[in-house]
Amino acid sequence: MQTQMPGSLPDYQIDPYRLAEDDFKDMFGDIRLELINNTTQEELQPISTYYLDGQGKAVRPILTILMARAINYHKGRNVLSHSQRQVAMISEMIHTSSLLHDDVIDQSDIRRGKPSVNAVWSQKKVAMAGDYILSVACLMISRLQNDDVSIAISQIVTDLVQGEFMQLGSKETENERFAHYLTKTYRKTASLIANCCKAVAILAEVDDRMIEMAFQYGRNVGLAFQLVDDLLDFVASSEALGKPTAADLKLGLATAPVLFACEQYPELNAMIMRRFQEHGDVKKAFELVHKSNGLEQTRFLAKKHCAEANKIVQSFAKSPYQKALIIMADLVINRMK
Ligand code: FPP
Ligand code: MG
Repeated sequence: MQTQMPGSLPDYQIDPYRLAEDDFKDMFGDIRLELINNTTQEELQPISTYYLDGQGKAVRPILTILMARAINYHKGRNVLSHSQRQVAMISEMIHTSSLLHDDVIDQSDIRRGKPSVNAVWSQKKVAMAGDYILSVACLMISRLQNDDVSIAISQIVTDLVQGEFMQLGSKETENERFAHYLTKTYRKTASLIANCCKAVAILAEVDDRMIEMAFQYGRNVGLAFQLVDDLLDFVASSEALGKPTAADLKLGLATAPVLFACEQYPELNAMIMRRFQEHGDVKKAFELVHKSNGLEQTRFLAKKHCAEANKIVQSFAKSPYQKALIIMADLVINRMK
């Protein structure tokens, strides 16, 4: 049988998850090993590994692997380096650490269809286990011994905390509110993907222009991912999501669908300002969003970011990995959970 060269696979044969399978397999096992080997505190182990059970979407490490592979291919290399694989692991660890903190802050009951971590262990232990995951990720970053990579990945944590902080406040005017929402969305979600794409590009030793392209792909896909997340909170079933719906409104958060709906239904303004705290606010806002074009406008904005991401990777050398990055952007738009 003739061996097919990477780069010559027809688009329809490309499944990004299959393509990343070899690099990705054992990744959760390897993360769990890091978390188990770095502590003598027995209870830290089950808490810190609770969400690292392979049941998540693993979007961040898959995107990181595909970006690394696409860029390596562009440079004429067909291997993923150990350091790049470590960045993929670190992406999932930082994300998981933030989820432990987020579940405490949001007092959630359920995530990924199972009791959330804070429903099983005390808030104090969960917060410390989140810190622990982050600190092991920091150890792994240090081992890479690359200052630029350390800076890029450290930026993620600064952004996550600031994004979460921004979510606690809101702005008075509609324009300010949308700008605030977009910055928050970048910091809370897109920065992680953007900076991990940047880190693997740095490790590939490509020029600054290519590093910036990797970053911008991640930024655009990350923004689209969160816009779709905010949309799904209004349209998906709680069974599909594995967590309650309309959760953002219940938490007092006005995301893109509400902000767009506000243009058609200005009565939403007062509800946004009081963070949907009055009796009936959540139900009324939910109905108005569905009556408005807010959901379509949110999807349209997400699609715009994906188109931008795809335009960026068009200039990478043609390879199955480059095509998979394009398919991943489409999957982000069309996902149901
Ligand atoms: C999920 O948001 C939460 C995040 C994407 C980021 C949370 C970040 C922090 C708590 C800052 C601290 C981070 C670290 C690493 C120490 P969501 O509540 O909108 O989504 P959900 O519905 O999945 O809970
Ligand atoms: Mg939450």
